[in-house]
Amino acid sequence: MYYLVANWKSEMDFHQVKAWCFTFLDSINYDIGNLNQQEIKVILGPSYLYLRFVQQTFSRIPFIYIASQDVSPLGKGKYTGFVPAESVKDFCEYAIVGHSERRKHARESEEEIKKKLAECKKHGVKTILCVRETKDQLYASDIVAYEPVEAIGTGANADATHVVEMKKKLKPAKGQAYLYGGSADDKNIDDYLATGEVDGFLVGTASLDPKKFFAMFQKMLGNER
Ligand code: PGA
Repeated sequence: MYYLVANWKSEMDFHQVKAWCFTFLDSINYDIGNLNQQEIKVILGPSYLYLRFVQQTFSRIPFIYIASQDVSPLGKGKYTGFVPAESVKDFCEYAIVGHSERRKHARESEEEIKKKLAECKKHGVKTILCVRETKDQLYASDIVAYEPVEAIGTGANADATHVVEMKKKLKPAKGQAYLYGGSADDKNIDDYLATGEVDGFLVGTASLDPKKFFAMFQKMLGNER
């Protein structure tokens, strides 16, 4: 099983999200007869505001799932501005936890990350845990994404051999899918796929273009293990 995760960050307004979804849906509908849908999960990560819209738009496509980009470390309660797992779960199956941009800009700690994972577990939200290096703890999660900071949004994607080395060091658990993220795009994913050690990608920049993202999706189906 491969995973292709789009992380749209704070990049798109509603107008852009709508345009993205309709273009991607068109590509899928056009190609649906040729797609081996059992082999891949495409997970779309809009901001909280657009979760409902994206969920509804793709509700009839069985291999598309939705992820929130973050989740509250706290439960329901008097916590202004926080969005708890218990609310998120109505709109998506997955939550991204511990992304390096949250670790940096929201000063997210290991303690908070643990709480977020626990909240998700409690409410049945699957987790995509991001780690930047071996110092970041690899807690139990459904998916782990190795994302070296210097590769994120820079065009300088990490070498496939390095990504495989990191897998050996990080030691994901059996059943914990191992993704690479950091300037992954339709031009460079073959190298990672060829190693047979990478279960998919967490994609920022290249996920903003529905055509590029669809090209990645098609490539992954062609490289099925
Ligand atoms: P990028 O972002 O593909 O633009 O490097 C990846 C991420 O931050 O998840």
